[in-house]
Amino acid sequence: MLHSKLISTKSLPRPTQYVQMLQNDYAKWTYDQEAARELRGNWRRQAFDVSSETPLDLEIGTGNGFFYAHRATVAPERCLVGLEITYKTLVQSIRRAVSQGATNARMARFHASQIDEIFATAELDNVYIYFPDPWPKKKHAKNRLIQMSFLHALYDLQRPDSFLEFKTDSAEYFDWALERFKKSPYKISRLTRDLHASEWGMNNFMTHFEKLWTSKGLKTHLIRLEK
Ligand SMILES: C[S@@+](CC[C@H](N)C(=O)[O-])C[C@H]1O[C@@H](n2cnc3c(N)ncnc32)[C@H](O)[C@@H]1O
Repeated sequence: MLHSKLISTKSLPRPTQYVQMLQNDYAKWTYDQEAARELRGNWRRQAFDVSSETPLDLEIGTGNGFFYAHRATVAPERCLVGLEITYKTLVQSIRRAVSQGATNARMARFHASQIDEIFATAELDNVYIYFPDPWPKKKHAKNRLIQMSFLHALYDLQRPDSFLEFKTDSAEYFDWALERFKKSPYKISRLTRDLHASEWGMNNFMTHFEKLWTSKGLKTHLIRLEK
């Protein structure tokens, strides 16, 4: 007879609906940490089945995936990898892209600060970092994604003539990041502290967080950096 108390399923961690959806519905477009590490240097061939000429872009922190799905569908000739750390946003992003017909989008659950563990030198083209967590308290600034070591690593992972684009509502984070961008090997090609009023505002796609903060009166800061 089974000892039902000993093997009670109550004591097992319960996978959330998002983990189940990932495993059941979106497995072929998503990678966990280990699978992402195994793709290092081979994303085009193994994850997308495309040649080395096809551009491979990256969005870090896709959130609920509005920009991610938009970007994948407006540029079907390019490939797009999204990174997220939560299961919910991972599912929201890939579900939105796939339901809009994208076949060139993949997601990985991975902490972006260790990005060189999943991509090899010159494997990436353009990189988008939009509204990253601002960590407003001084003592938490070490948690911000934009750090000198991260910028040097990312620069090495990008191909020549690609760009890194960064947007935030936080003037404080923007200034802090700008100091680091200026010390990095990137060259600044666009900079505005009020994107929507700038010459680049018209073609800008507003992310979920961008809409939220804009509706509260905050300006969007943007910088584009060229390799
Ligand atoms: C403030 S939201 C912005 C989402 C989206 N880019 C937008 O503009 O609407 C930041 C997102 O980044 C993700 N994130 C935070 N730290 C991350 C990391 N180290 N690597 C990957 N994603 C991260 C969070 O889970 C969250 O979904």
